[in-house]
Amino acid sequence: MRQLLFSVFITLFIVSCNTELSNNQMKNSAQNSTKSAIDYKVDSLLAIMTLEEKVGQMNQYNGFWNVTGPTPQDGDAAKKYDDLRRGRVGSMLNVRGVKEVRAVQKVAVEESRLGIPLIIGFDVIHGYKTLSPIPIAESASWDMEAIEKSAKMAALEASAAGINWTFAPMVDISRDARWGRVMEGGGEDPYLGSLIAKARVRGFQGKDLSSASTIAACAKHFAAYGFAEGGRDYNTVDIGTSTLYNTVFPPFRATVDAGVMTFMNSFNELNGIPATGDSFLQRDILKGKWGFDGFVVSDWGSIKEMIDHGYAQDLKDAARLAVIAGSDMDMESYAYVDRLVALVNEKKVDVALIDDSVKRILKAKYELGLFDDPYRYCDEAREKKITGSKEINEAALDIAKKSIVLLKNELNLLPLKKEGQKIAVIGALANDKTSPLGSWRIAAEDETAVSVLEGLQNYNKNEYTYAKGVDVTTGRTDFVYELDINTTDRSEIPQAVAVAKKADVVIMVLGEHGFQSGEARSRTQLDLPGLQQELLEAVYAENKKVILVLTNGRPLALPWAAENVPAIVEAWQLGTQSGHAIAQVLYGDYNPSGKLPMTFPRSVGQVPIYYNYKNTGRPNKQDDRIVFWSHYTDEENTPLFPFGHGLSYSTFEYSDFSINNEFNTNGKITAQINLKNTGIFKGKEVVQLYIRDKFASVTRPVRELKGFKMVELTPRETQTITFELKKEDLSFFNNEGEFIFEPGEFEIYIGGSSITTMGDTVTIE
Ligand code: NOJ
Repeated sequence: MRQLLFSVFITLFIVSCNTELSNNQMKNSAQNSTKSAIDYKVDSLLAIMTLEEKVGQMNQYNGFWNVTGPTPQDGDAAKKYDDLRRGRVGSMLNVRGVKEVRAVQKVAVEESRLGIPLIIGFDVIHGYKTLSPIPIAESASWDMEAIEKSAKMAALEASAAGINWTFAPMVDISRDARWGRVMEGGGEDPYLGSLIAKARVRGFQGKDLSSASTIAACAKHFAAYGFAEGGRDYNTVDIGTSTLYNTVFPPFRATVDAGVMTFMNSFNELNGIPATGDSFLQRDILKGKWGFDGFVVSDWGSIKEMIDHGYAQDLKDAARLAVIAGSDMDMESYAYVDRLVALVNEKKVDVALIDDSVKRILKAKYELGLFDDPYRYCDEAREKKITGSKEINEAALDIAKKSIVLLKNELNLLPLKKEGQKIAVIGALANDKTSPLGSWRIAAEDETAVSVLEGLQNYNKNEYTYAKGVDVTTGRTDFVYELDINTTDRSEIPQAVAVAKKADVVIMVLGEHGFQSGEARSRTQLDLPGLQQELLEAVYAENKKVILVLTNGRPLALPWAAENVPAIVEAWQLGTQSGHAIAQVLYGDYNPSGKLPMTFPRSVGQVPIYYNYKNTGRPNKQDDRIVFWSHYTDEENTPLFPFGHGLSYSTFEYSDFSINNEFNTNGKITAQINLKNTGIFKGKEVVQLYIRDKFASVTRPVRELKGFKMVELTPRETQTITFELKKEDLSFFNNEGEFIFEPGEFEIYIGGSSITTMGDTVTIE
């Protein structure tokens, strides 16, 4: 306590200004380059720190011993404990719950010389204990308000458990469904991805970072992690400048604009340089061009991994390269804590770099209010009250419903009739209370999600018969063990077929287990794992009235199902309230409104497949007898389900497309369309606007999303939807990284998905 008072005194003594500056005020003052109250405090604290203490702030450790138990005496835990006491730790991750957080914070604050509080990080990816849908699912809602609210609820629950920093949002654009981490991102499009990125930062950080209900966000993984070759996690990335500037960077830039407090770099190398050691990314772009004034944390062990990459000679060299490149905090490499002091003393690293990193880290701690009260997130009563609260569960249910995408609906199968139906429910995932939680659920407990079967039971005027059919996995489903997806047991298929035979309608819940996507869970196949396809075909052969509910963490390639099964509902992994959300959508109590944020391929061989591709020099077949155009000989080029696709129980008619080109006079182009609800249900439609810049000094994609609006219409209602396009919407980054506008011809399209053909061309002189 003595040390804490001492440090608080020092900083208060030097600055008497009001400390309650909001994040935006901080940003503004940084931009005006006037020193803020916090800057003064940071400087005065820095002035009394030893080199070892400074380096300590740059060190982050994973949680270690049972922190509420006896002090560790030897091994790694003892070292970490000792380092905490010596002021050699600035942050910890994976310490969870108020009791544990308080215990580590107490050592840092009350036993170290300066008593600098720890910043406590955790992967609050889509919730803490109560989980909302996985991020790719939430992205399918195209509903920024709901996404922001979801992040806000995650922050509320996590902050009540002592956490004050999340390693989210992941804003990596990816075009490769084989990559397991597409589940954690906003999909394939930089425009949509940027809006989602901003919404999530706003949700986590709120308006006042020093509030005990908000937490610092972290934009990750900087950069290009989603472009791993072959979709294999951690793999090499080699992409061109145009993709980097126009596709990879925009969502990251958006988080800076939204005031994100931290960044995480990434495991991959980018064009020969590991991102962790890349000063072009971290110093030139992020901290230079974009003026980011927060701090950058490495990914787990990514400093050390530069040795394996073949970039650093040893751990000391890795520490040197990382700090010079602008990585401010070392997550679990032990590189900074054990090597940086020597590097500075040997004049291999300039102490000014250390000071800059430490200032950034201390500033974040001040902004979070940790110096005012290091235990501000440590209130047991609040933790008890907020964890799993009604408010958080209601928000999780709300966004879960909004995340569902209706891919196909024929034979009038959906919505289901509410009474008098015999319904067969088939598939192991229908009865699974763990899989809907996904793979990022460190704090959530097993078996805490509402299963589909449980959700359906609320509609109790129908009769349900359940049959598992086949298992999805046979292995252990946790972080440590690989999943054994080679299930061979067919013995229960006949029973599932028999159940289907007697039913009026069959609901089959198939897909991937929650642990089949996520970090290090790349796949070479995008089919239904195990024997699920066989089960689907066997059941369909007996009863064609099949509603396929897919639960998965990535786009799947299911051409047989798309062709044969009359109704397909994409339900991802929807979190704690999963079963309720699915049942409410199946019964029409929520009319589905989601749209795909990622293209679904016909075959894994088409991957990477994305809507905003380049035309090539040979886009079309010229002559039936000539083979030389850009295509496959055994598959179409088109996707199974395009980006932006999603149906509703209503039907929508688009008409009267018009454009008003006032670019030269008023600097804008207005595009309009009439949208009519031609169905019998009230429903929502995401109206999307795409452009195509027909020729440019660097080729542009065939389509680029530049706007969308969520419109709700009652049956027979028509609304005129208007979009405005300005110069910046028609601009792009050239290969020098300059954002430029080139006059010429632009095609403009409006519709319900990326393959809409309703549009026209404008010319800008
Ligand atoms: C590795 C992951 O790549 C990163 O996203 C995560 O935040 C850290 N581990 C910490 O768990």
